[in-house]
Amino acid sequence: MSEFIHKPVMLAEVLAALRPHPNGQYADGTLGGAGHARAILAASSPTGRLLGCDRDGIAVETARQRLATEFAGRFTVERGNFAELDRWLPAGSCDGVLLDLGVSSPQLDQPERGFSFQGDGPLDMRMDDRQTLTAAELVNGADAETLARIFWEYGGERDSRRFAKAIVHDRALSPFLTTRQLAGLIERLAPRHGRKAHPATKVFQALRLAVNDEIGSLRRGLAVAAGLLKPGGRLAVITFHSLEDRVVKEFGRERTRDYTFPGEVDIPELRQPCVPELKWVARKAGLPGAEELQDNPRSRSAQLRVLEKT
Ligand SMILES: C[S@@+](CC[C@H](N)C(=O)[O-])C[C@H]1O[C@@H](n2cnc3c(N)ncnc32)[C@H](O)[C@@H]1O
Repeated sequence: MSEFIHKPVMLAEVLAALRPHPNGQYADGTLGGAGHARAILAASSPTGRLLGCDRDGIAVETARQRLATEFAGRFTVERGNFAELDRWLPAGSCDGVLLDLGVSSPQLDQPERGFSFQGDGPLDMRMDDRQTLTAAELVNGADAETLARIFWEYGGERDSRRFAKAIVHDRALSPFLTTRQLAGLIERLAPRHGRKAHPATKVFQALRLAVNDEIGSLRRGLAVAAGLLKPGGRLAVITFHSLEDRVVKEFGRERTRDYTFPGEVDIPELRQPCVPELKWVARKAGLPGAEELQDNPRSRSAQLRVLEKT
C-alpha cells in the first residue's frame, strides 16, 4: 500500500467544537487517514471511545492500523457510508460526530482512482470500489440531458449543455476510458486562455459527486448524525464547496427552527412554537487560519459548521 498521507483540515477548530472528554463517545463518518480520529482519541484519553467509518477500503485499513497500537480497545472501524452510522451506534449515544467531506489527498493523488486529470487514469471516481457505477459508465451511458444536468447542478458548469453534447457525439466514435481523454475534450472545447483553473475542473467535480451520490449521502448523513447525538452533543461538518455548505446550512436552518408548520409551505399564521432540536454553535462558518492556508493549500475552500443538540 502506498503511504497514505492526508493532513487533517481545521484540526484545532474541530477539537474546540467537539470538546472531547474521557467519558465521551465520538463518531467520525469520514475516517480517511484517521488524522481527526487520532486527535479525538488522544484528546479524550484515557477512556473516550470512537467509532469511525469510511466508504473507502484503503482508508479503513489505514485508519485501523494507525489507531491500533495507541488506542487499542477504544475504537471501532467500519467500512460503509456515514449515512448508515446508525447501523453501528444507537440513537442518542454520541457526544460528538464529525463529517469531513469530500475526497482525501491519497484518493486524489492516485491516478488509478480516476478522481483527477493531473495524472492519467481510468474514469473511475468510486470512493467505494464495491459499487458498480463508475464515472466511465455515466460518461459513456447517460443521455446528453442527464450529463448536462449533472455538470450544471453538481459543478455549476455554465457550458454544461455544450460539453454534454460533445461528449455524446465523441463517444459514438470511441468511448471515454481515461481521465485525460475527457479532460482533453473539455480543454479543446474551452481553451484555458491563461485561466488558472483547468476548464475540466467543474466537470470532474460534478461527476465525482454524481458517481458517489455525495449530496444524497450528506442529506441522509446529517439527519442520521443528529439522531445519534446526546443532548449537548455536537455535530461538526467540514465542507469544501458551496453546494455542500448550502445543504448543511439548510439542514441547520430546518432543525434550529423554534416552530413547526403544517404541510409543505411555511405560512406564518399557522406556525406552532416548538423546542428546536439543534442550535448553531456559531452563526458563521469557521474558516482555516492564515497559517493553515499556507501550510496546506487543500484547506483553502474548507468551511466548518457546528450544531449542538438541545
Ligand atoms: C477529507 S477525507 C477525510 C480525512 C480525515 N478526516 C483525516 O483526518 O484523515 C474524506 C474521507 O471521507 C470518505 N467519505 C466521503 N464521503 C463518505 C460517505 N458518504 N461515507 C463514508 N465515507 C465517506 C472518503 O472516502 C475520504 O476517505
